[in-house]
Amino acid sequence: MATFTIMNNMSGQKSEFEILESTLGAPVVDISGLRSRVGAYTYDNGLGETATCQSSITFIDGAKGELLYRGYPIEELANKKNYIEVCYLILHGELPDSKEYNRFERDIRVKSYPHEGIKYLFRAFPDNGHPMAILSSAVSALSAFHHQHLNVKDDEEFMEMARRIIAKMPTLAAFTYRHFMGYPLIYPDMERYFTENFLYMLRAFPTGKTEISDVEVRALDKIFMLHADHEQNASTTTVRAVGSTGAHPYAAVVAGINALWGRAHGGANESVIAQLEMIGSVDKVDEFIRRAKNPEDSFRLMGFGHRVYKNFDPRAKVLKKLRDELRDTIGINSRLIEIADRIEQIALNDEYFVKRNLYPNIDFYSGTILEALGIRKKMFTPIFVIGRTVGWIAHLIEQKKDSKQKIYRPRQRYIGKTRRSVP
Ligand code: ACO
Repeated sequence: MATFTIMNNMSGQKSEFEILESTLGAPVVDISGLRSRVGAYTYDNGLGETATCQSSITFIDGAKGELLYRGYPIEELANKKNYIEVCYLILHGELPDSKEYNRFERDIRVKSYPHEGIKYLFRAFPDNGHPMAILSSAVSALSAFHHQHLNVKDDEEFMEMARRIIAKMPTLAAFTYRHFMGYPLIYPDMERYFTENFLYMLRAFPTGKTEISDVEVRALDKIFMLHADHEQNASTTTVRAVGSTGAHPYAAVVAGINALWGRAHGGANESVIAQLEMIGSVDKVDEFIRRAKNPEDSFRLMGFGHRVYKNFDPRAKVLKKLRDELRDTIGINSRLIEIADRIEQIALNDEYFVKRNLYPNIDFYSGTILEALGIRKKMFTPIFVIGRTVGWIAHLIEQKKDSKQKIYRPRQRYIGKTRRSVP
């Protein structure tokens, strides 16, 4: 057994802890019992050095810039599979055969209708409310509609609950968008594939033909797939933390949605486009690069840097290629791309960014593609939510099956007042 020894210089006592191998990536030191044996906790600001669970869903090698879903490289999946096949893979651990795929895909179509009562919820929100606020409320309401039907101990019921939320998320996101735009809410069209159906729900009107090209469906499908899971990121960790309390799985997903909203996380895709628009023209790029490098200035280049990737984000590579392909087929805002290209060119060669391993991340490219699909900026993060829902649910399923998983209850280093009497 490989062990890790901690020498406590205060007590002079040595303690050994088991090192657990991982199938890929760094092994982990099992520090169970640390407090009782060493008399101290670990202090890990931001949990960057801590494995909070065991997982077999996704693997990231940040130094290499590698991302695997259930062992398959993201680039290969993006070339050969569609989003729904990848959802099946993430949930079940293996790619579906054609019979499994047909059954799964059909069920997702059937489950895309929300309870009619959910529709009335949307009336309560102001037109200009942020779509993430409305979407998270709608998903929260969904747990009220499906509370009675869930026996968490039953694996098949739990899986059905997973399919249900994956299927309904695009409908709720589309309702959110239509409310935001002042359009009448429209039902899903069960004759359409998941991603086409979502574009349909964004674009359709009660009368008239809705134009959706295959190129657009494939592009958005890839965006969903690239966002499907990303191991223990802030929103997934939030989902697991809420899940660990035994809360309803949809309540845990709502917590994930709210964590994702932040501009340091999923909200970055909206901020990237806002920032490119603010920069406005290629000749202003140098000025903003200077600001990003200035430690006195809080300005950051949105879409750059990542807590785990210290190399090119592999998802960003896929999206960059996709964006360049789409330039010839659908109209992409070339002014924003010119600004983005200039930023990328400078940053990849500038000592400040090179030294800190700051590369473009997925959000740097997704915004320009979504814009080309006619999707409003404020809907970018809800689109991330649609793609990520499967990942969150897969983590909840994994957590439920892990008999060793405990309620999340981290400790702290207390630096407040010591005990004192009230005068
Ligand atoms: N622009 C300018 N400087 C940056 C940037 C940036 N985008 N990101 C990090 N830095 C600098 C920091 O100022 C810091 O410099 P210092 O060492 O001189 O103090 C150094 O790089 C390290 O930064 P940290 O914030 O410690 O890096 P961390 O790994 O904790 O943060 C994060 C990662 C939050 C993503 C950060 O890079 C960032 O804010 N990026 C912009 C927002 C963004 O694109 N978020 C999307 C992330 S991907 C996703 O969620 C899907």
